[in-house]
Amino acid sequence: MVSRRQSIHGEWSSRWAFILAATGSAVGLGNIWKFPYMTGENGGGAFVLVYLLCVAVIGIPIMMAETMLGRRGRQSPINTMQTLAIEAGHTPRWHFVGWIGVLAGFLILSYYSVIAGWALAYVLRTGTGVFTGATADGVEAIFSDFVSNPESLLGWHTLFMAMTMIVVARGVQGGLEKAVKFLMPGLFIILVVLVGYAMNAGEFAQAMRYLFSPSFENLSPEAILAAMGQAFFSLSLGMGAIMVYGSYLPHDASIAGTSVRIAIADTLVAVLAGMAIFPLVFAHNLEPGAGPGLIFQTLPLVFGHMPGGVVFGTLFFVLLVFAAWTSSISLIEPAVAYLVENRGVRRSNAAVIVAGACWALGLLTVLSFNVWSDVHPLGMFETFKDKTPFDLLDYLTSNIMLPLGGFMIAIFSVWIMSRDASRDELDLHEGWEYPAWRFLVRYVTPVAVVTIFLNAIDAI
Ligand code: TRP
Repeated sequence: MVSRRQSIHGEWSSRWAFILAATGSAVGLGNIWKFPYMTGENGGGAFVLVYLLCVAVIGIPIMMAETMLGRRGRQSPINTMQTLAIEAGHTPRWHFVGWIGVLAGFLILSYYSVIAGWALAYVLRTGTGVFTGATADGVEAIFSDFVSNPESLLGWHTLFMAMTMIVVARGVQGGLEKAVKFLMPGLFIILVVLVGYAMNAGEFAQAMRYLFSPSFENLSPEAILAAMGQAFFSLSLGMGAIMVYGSYLPHDASIAGTSVRIAIADTLVAVLAGMAIFPLVFAHNLEPGAGPGLIFQTLPLVFGHMPGGVVFGTLFFVLLVFAAWTSSISLIEPAVAYLVENRGVRRSNAAVIVAGACWALGLLTVLSFNVWSDVHPLGMFETFKDKTPFDLLDYLTSNIMLPLGGFMIAIFSVWIMSRDASRDELDLHEGWEYPAWRFLVRYVTPVAVVTIFLNAIDAI
């Protein structure tokens, strides 16, 4: 057995700190902003069902694999993959999995920060009572006015990126841990209240049918790919975020138990968000497939009409910003950890460099909603014909890079790493759990990812 490595970046103070941080990474815009609009764009129930299946058979096993690799390697994903590959007697080139991850995180954060900026802007709008008494048309108009102004999107994007940079600059315990403790429970409670409101004020039964009774004739190979991509995105998998958090995990924590809990919490938040939003969509005859603006065009309606809506709505957007904040941190942590380890850069400088570059790339997304809304760089392909630069970044990362990263992580942990090493690190010495995990990661996950890919390519 290898002697235990230590991470040079420190360790979580307890297993709880890891669960909170990993949940903080998982729960974010992906659950509340992206899940509802993806569901709407892909026709409802069948998409949700495939998503849930992907979380169970691909997501949880890969989350265990990523955490396990991280804790074994105790370094940035790039160095962790390299060290563990050498240890297993294979080529150090496996570090490219870490590189794909660093790149994916970087691309994702560039647009994630822009959308988180929308949430920031909506804190102010809701707080100043802009939505009080507003109609569905009014709320839509406020949203389209807002995104049509690139300067203001840029301003909010800049603010959010600066917030991310500051927390990352301060390091694991100082920054990351403190941010999560109270926010997740708060967000959860708010969502439950919103669902309660939607039950009374919206078309709840219709929404439940839409979300949970699948009609498979609408389910295209593209939608299946999107559901898998969404599972990776929502659970923060496939790019080393969970790996890097795992590298700060103390040795006595159970990886299987924590992974299952994190996945359940993440899924619950996404489903609750759907249950809060779709009753309103149907009650106001809005378009389920409205796209990325969906929550910004529906939820303000509730806040404009419920008693105490100003306070409650403001609180909602504040918590959404926090959820996005704890996620964005994990998107650049692998890159920052790499610069600190391999280039001898100070943590604070590394945070400035990475966040600065991400900020600049964010301009592509800022412009995608206004000046470039008709620019379709890959317009010659049917599948991409309406996709703006933002849509393409999202497609490339969620539907291609994350599943690919997850696939490589699966292959590595069961075909390259020795059985003893993984069993030891997962600490599953008896019972059915280890064989079940190994079977899923060895056969089911890779086959599922490849099949879904091939199907979708066929459709392009
Ligand atoms: N999971 C986060 C969300 O749902 C986003 C996120 C954070 C992420 N870290 C990630 C996505 C790593 C993919 C990979 O909002």
